[in-house]
Amino acid sequence: MKNSSSICENLRPLRIINVVGARPNFMKMAPIIEAMNRHPERIQHLLVHTGQHYDEKMSQAFFNDLGMPKPDIDLEVGSGSHAEQTARIMVEFEKVCLREKPDLVIVVGDVNSTMACTITAKKLGIRVAHVEAGLRSRDMAMPEEINRLCTDVLCDYLFTTDRFANENLRREGVPEDKIFFVGNVMIDTLLKHKEMAGRLDLMDRWGLEPCKYATLTLHRPSNVDERETLEGILEALTEIAHGLPIVFPIHPRTRKMVEQFGLSSYLNNGNRVQGIWTTEPLGYLEFLHLNMNARMVLTDSGGLQEETTVLGVPCITLRENTERPITCEEGTNVIVGNRKENILAAARKVLQGDIARGRVPEKWDGQAAERIVKILLSQK
Ligand code: UD1
Repeated sequence: MKNSSSICENLRPLRIINVVGARPNFMKMAPIIEAMNRHPERIQHLLVHTGQHYDEKMSQAFFNDLGMPKPDIDLEVGSGSHAEQTARIMVEFEKVCLREKPDLVIVVGDVNSTMACTITAKKLGIRVAHVEAGLRSRDMAMPEEINRLCTDVLCDYLFTTDRFANENLRREGVPEDKIFFVGNVMIDTLLKHKEMAGRLDLMDRWGLEPCKYATLTLHRPSNVDERETLEGILEALTEIAHGLPIVFPIHPRTRKMVEQFGLSSYLNNGNRVQGIWTTEPLGYLEFLHLNMNARMVLTDSGGLQEETTVLGVPCITLRENTERPITCEEGTNVIVGNRKENILAAARKVLQGDIARGRVPEKWDGQAAERIVKILLSQK
């Protein structure tokens, strides 16, 4: 364990393993590590990367952009079926826990790594904290919903982002003293990097004009793993892109499915001022820059619903439900599903200026990680 500077006689530092695995984890963990580093004498921490995401652009690029320390340990589990990936993470993470003997493991989000490391640590009697607890889509067809439920039922500290999450946990019988409403660590990262991202020269380099394009992300199995669904979505997007070019940093899963289904002709058939323009997955700062300046964002991601709410950019979510209803209630998000006519109707509304203005939810103020560390230190 590092950061083991002066250890007070009666105050053994808290030994923590922080876990990341997939792209949406990195921007959530970065501010937590930063906040921990402000207490070197009280916290020793290790960063474990499970290797769920491993491509340079899905992983290392984020460490660079966010100024995150290199992981101390990389489990290098890679891709596989859910069972294969989860099992590999558990086998490898168990060895780390046995060797390092942490007092606490911290997991973030809802990916397979989150659940796998929670189960492993709990079975070894190690306390676990879940950051972004209590989110529920009530859609058991989503692997993430299963991950969220399994993780929350086991965790000792449930750090929540909003009042809906608090309510969900209460309804599930979680004792009040385990629930800590701290705000949104992903927004800590966004607020910290917004100015830096704003200074990039992407508009010039890519020949885009602010508010004259949309951005798109698409990777949910429910949207991309069936030909008919994916083609319907691409048809709708093509129609939107006649009037408003769409920049689409394409996820590896989606690229694979587009090619497998023979749908590549929908992509890159125009240029950046017309059509759907795909790019490799982008780094954190470039993508934030694009979203800040976009007329609208179309997505099936979870985190982007929250980021657009804070940026005040209209978000059209191509899913039937959301685990983040606060972004619809207070923010700029609308849930439209994946049927062509509904996607088109929602985009038309935004283009006509019929958009939810929204406000920033409570405690999405850049201080969430600081609150988390304060709570951990007070409960030692
Ligand atoms: C995972 C998360 C999802 C999250 C998403 C963000 C789970 C169940 N899913 O989905 O919640 O929103 O990450 O991106 O944990 N691949 C690569 N390079 C990589 C990683 C993946 O090529 O670095 C390809 C592989 O073919 C892999 C496929 O993408 O099989 C899917 O990756 P996986 O991590 O299983 O799920 P995601 O769809 O990325």
